[in-house]
Amino acid sequence: MCGIFGIINDEKKQAAQTVLDGLKKLEYRGYDSWGIALKTSDSNEILLDKHIGKIGNAVTNLPTGGTIAIGHTRWATHGGVTDANAHVENYQELQSELRHKKHQFISETDTEVIAHLIEEEAKTKPLFLATLTAFKKLVGSNAIVVLDGKTGEVVVCRNGSPVVLGVTKETTYIASDATALLDKTNTVYFMDDNEAAYINKSYIELFSIDTEKAKKLVLQKIDWKAQAAEKGGFAHFALKEISEQSTTIPHVLLKRSKALSEVAELIKEGYRPIMIACGSASYCGLAAQYVFADLGIDSTNYGGYEYAPFARLATDKTLVFAISQSGETADTILAVKEAKKRGAKIVGVINAQGSTLERLSDYLLPVEAGPEIAVVSTKAFTAQLATFFALHSVIKNDDPSTFINEFSNWIQSKELHKTILDCAKHLLKSEHIYLIGKHINYPSALEFALKLKETSYIHAESFASGELKHGVISLIQPGTPCIVLTAHDDIYKEVISSAIELKSRGGMIIGVGPDTNQAFDFHIKTHATGNLYSIFYNVVVGQLLGYFVGVGRGADPDKPRNLAKSVTVK
Ligand code: G6P
Repeated sequence: MCGIFGIINDEKKQAAQTVLDGLKKLEYRGYDSWGIALKTSDSNEILLDKHIGKIGNAVTNLPTGGTIAIGHTRWATHGGVTDANAHVENYQELQSELRHKKHQFISETDTEVIAHLIEEEAKTKPLFLATLTAFKKLVGSNAIVVLDGKTGEVVVCRNGSPVVLGVTKETTYIASDATALLDKTNTVYFMDDNEAAYINKSYIELFSIDTEKAKKLVLQKIDWKAQAAEKGGFAHFALKEISEQSTTIPHVLLKRSKALSEVAELIKEGYRPIMIACGSASYCGLAAQYVFADLGIDSTNYGGYEYAPFARLATDKTLVFAISQSGETADTILAVKEAKKRGAKIVGVINAQGSTLERLSDYLLPVEAGPEIAVVSTKAFTAQLATFFALHSVIKNDDPSTFINEFSNWIQSKELHKTILDCAKHLLKSEHIYLIGKHINYPSALEFALKLKETSYIHAESFASGELKHGVISLIQPGTPCIVLTAHDDIYKEVISSAIELKSRGGMIIGVGPDTNQAFDFHIKTHATGNLYSIFYNVVVGQLLGYFVGVGRGADPDKPRNLAKSVTVK
């Protein structure tokens, strides 16, 4: 959560402005407030510029001419935007110790405790060691950047929250996510937990926080292109990322890597797959259960936050699929660590590069959807899903090319966008939307509803269509919008009969699928691809419908209220 950006030795002498631009690229990590600290060139002073609210198109009134600055865009994890925040879980104890030592607190944030702790330690130690000593006292997930106003030296420490260093010949950048560095450099170092970096204008040194000993800094190149993290003429990143699925899904479906074959072999040898993920990724995990079942393989999907009671079931024959866009979701990481402790092998199904989950993985199936900037996950979700379909193809030896051709044409058709936009107009004033789907299209319905909730703030709830008669149908009143996800499969008739039940209670039926039906008041056409692949069509309809309804209601689909792209706290 939150985004950090820093620059040391800015050749252009625009440090504050460069940090502002960097923070704008990280805004999806938190948009409650932001601030920049600039080291002045001619004095020991640090100038500050702080604001509540989204960074949006903000400008900074900090002067040009600076070469060192750090900044922060904040997402309030606990309490309201101005209330106490708690990344430092033991901040109350630390605060009362510091109060005894006569430290005066000016805010209610836990972060301020860190500044006072460092100040206390710096009474007897140089800043670097003072920062390390203070950082060791913090309990929780943190990444901090400390700027010395006198010397311009910067110390970075990481435990649990991501930090990447970007390096050019002259300049060092610090960012919470590599996407903010793509227009600056592709030479990076992804810091690991328990690492500290000392940075001055001439060099960077890496240290272990525990031992305080120096470590070798091994830089790596990342292959994402800067343009991939730009809007490229689209109104929103969300729309751009939805449209990119015409290439991202085929790419993953057709990719055959060594790791994919190795993972397929483990499954054939009898390793039992379990999926661990949160949010959209956990719906991918649920869909993966259906994909594995089609192969006759038993598997289980767990939300990372619900895994603890089941961790004791993991063995050295468990194959954990850790599914995550960011690779930094705290609940997923904790669950994966628990399984790993018990001997499970970890397969990372991850989009971002250099993440914590990537490091924990024994096998990596990178989903390669490119940078996903909109907070709502679209192309990363379907690329994760495509990874399981690729595994299915390898194990069953089937060919996805018919699907790929039909799907790529369908997603790019103007007609599709027009139909969904028309449908969206009917939903702008809805308070509740219900969705049904069966088998593989049950997870489709869950993900579809999540897109509606995140982007339009309408209450959207999904049910397995078989559940309808068991209580749920009582929610339907005349005019209630009901979305019915169908496919050309052997359960088509059952799903249609559920649609007819909804209609007979007065529901306004939006049917999604290859064929129209007299039960539908509205039809969004997909293709006739057989059973499993229908999830891609139905989910994309959900992404587009969520997008259009959200925009129609004046919401920002790239930065929905209260949400952050990467949830790095428990
Ligand atoms: C947040 C995002 C969701 C995402 C979830 C898991 O809640 O808003 O879009 O699905 O985290 O994130 P991950 O990076 O692990 O896929």
